[in-house]
Amino acid sequence: MHVTDRPIVGIFGAGKVGTALARLLVGSGYDVFISGSPRQTALDLLVSIVAPGAKVATPEELVAASDVIIVAVPFGKAATVPWESFDDRIVVDAMNYWPPVDGHIAAVDADERSTSEINAARNPRARVVKSFNHVGYHEMEDDSMDAGSPLRRAMAVVGDDPEARAVVAQLIDDIGFDAVDGGPLANGRALEPGHPAFGRELSATELTRLIEPVAHLAA
Ligand SMILES: NC(=O)c1ccc[n+]([C@@H]2O[C@H](COP(=O)([O-])OP(=O)(O)OC[C@H]3O[C@@H](n4cnc5c(N)ncnc54)[C@H](OP(=O)(O)O)[C@@H]3O)[C@@H](O)[C@H]2O)c1
Repeated sequence: MHVTDRPIVGIFGAGKVGTALARLLVGSGYDVFISGSPRQTALDLLVSIVAPGAKVATPEELVAASDVIIVAVPFGKAATVPWESFDDRIVVDAMNYWPPVDGHIAAVDADERSTSEINAARNPRARVVKSFNHVGYHEMEDDSMDAGSPLRRAMAVVGDDPEARAVVAQLIDDIGFDAVDGGPLANGRALEPGHPAFGRELSATELTRLIEPVAHLAA
């Protein structure tokens, strides 16, 4: 699938990150579908209040409708989204492995890959990128600025599919951040908790400098 027009975005997870991104994307003119946890009973009401304009969808409806799928569920619950149906979709892994929430997962602790490489292996036909994970949900709206603003903050996108990176870079720009193309998915380690780019307010130049050393390690 080649995404040439404004993509339709589907978001798995109607929590802090999912609803913040839904608000920003709807506000930027995107059609947004959102799918919540089976435990969320009044999701239509919740979304109509916290992310008006986003459409609640079943997982199947979301996948069928969306060009870009953002996964914003707890990392420990990543397996509960239907990766097997993500063939050809651009999939944005916004998740972080966060032991206070996810518990310690021995296999992940022992794995040297970025957590997005681990997730990408769930479906090699999905066009997985990593983004949105290194900015706090509350900062996504607080720090959103118009293009050209001198203090505009940067957000990175990494992934092995250049067109997928470009599509998500446009999303990042549209929601109010300078997009940094960080190269292959393996570079995503630089964006994860415990690394200097994580959670910091950085310009595009500063963020690029923090991703480059990891790129050399991965080369
Ligand atoms: N909080 C931040 O500032 C921040 C920033 C960047 C990235 N992240 C990452 O983004 C992810 C989401 O964080 P969050 O803070 O938004 O968490 P959150 O507020 O707990 O929201 C996550 C939501 O996803 C739901 N969920 C679980 N499995 C699902 C599924 N299969 N389909 C649809 N929804 C599902 C959860 O429901 P249940 O409670 O029923 O499981 C919960 O409502 C995490 O991986 C986190 O590390 C967080």
